Amino acid sequence: MPRDRLFDSDGGPPSRAEAVAAVAARLVDSGVGAQEAQDDARALLRAAAGLSRLDLALSPQAALTPDETQRLSDFARRRAAREPVSRILGARGFWTLDLTVAPNVLDPRADTETLVETVLALTDDRNAPLHILDLGSGSGAILCALLSELPHATGVAVDLWAPACAATRQNLARCGLSRRAHVLRGQWGSALAGVFDIIVSNPPYVRAGDMATLDPEVRLHDPALALDGGADGLDCYRDIIADLGRLLAPGGLAAFEVGHDQAASVCALLHAQNLSVSRISRDAGGHERVVAARAEPQAS
Ligand SMILES: C[S@@+](CC[C@H](N)C(=O)[O-])C[C@H]1O[C@@H](n2cnc3c(N)ncnc32)[C@H](O)[C@@H]1O
Repeated sequence: MPRDRLFDSDGGPPSRAEAVAAVAARLVDSGVGAQEAQDDARALLRAAAGLSRLDLALSPQAALTPDETQRLSDFARRRAAREPVSRILGARGFWTLDLTVAPNVLDPRADTETLVETVLALTDDRNAPLHILDLGSGSGAILCALLSELPHATGVAVDLWAPACAATRQNLARCGLSRRAHVLRGQWGSALAGVFDIIVSNPPYVRAGDMATLDPEVRLHDPALALDGGADGLDCYRDIIADLGRLLAPGGLAAFEVGHDQAASVCALLHAQNLSVSRISRDAGGHERVVAARAEPQAS
């Protein structure tokens, strides 16, 4: 089969199984790992043909229509150029939610669900009227997930990047949570007054020197402002943690996603601000991914 043609039109329309195999082979040729290429090929075919997983499993020999074939070819071409599936489809599942993935806004990652899980595990009363601050909200994934689990909580999301503020608003609306949250454009918590019971952040934490080594899916599609954490990757933690004394309620919880080798450094920054680290959680890959700490309770 010629390299620039995904399906051999002389042999009639491809079956679903043939289409998956052809797309997966093209993706492997472009540098995508074999298992990921298979998973992505199936996901793109399901989207192109409007199929459920079950449809695909039950009728792998059914033929694609010309429209489905064309859509799948377009999707495959974009994925072969290393655009992530979530960006091609404009959506991704996060926690229990179905979120919009906006262009030029960080595509939320499964690892970030560890942050949501940790905050919920450390929240004694899920029905309390908690006030939550999400610094660097991006798509709004973290705040949406927390508000969806804490029915009486309210939230503030802050991001410096206007497209991220728009994406947070869009996802809050999509999840039916707009009335419980405000979205502000600004520099971390600098413009905020008042205190919060829970402060969460997944700030940029890639070392500046590592930016060029990121996979093309990340380097070419996630904005640098969402990734670059300065020379040692810790610049944003320093800025945010320095302000926690002002923004975190007595006894309040602060939780951060961290790079795989940054937990100890972030713990040291928290200790220096008199916060006591209450948990370090690992992600599904076994890396220390979240650091959670509490402010001193109110002196009685
Ligand atoms: C790693 S992304 C996290 C996005 C989202 N919270 C998530 O977990 O998927 C970091 C976010 O911080 C924002 N950001 C970077 N510098 C900022 C600053 N100085 N003040 C506020 N937000 C900032 C970026 O625009 C980006 O949306």
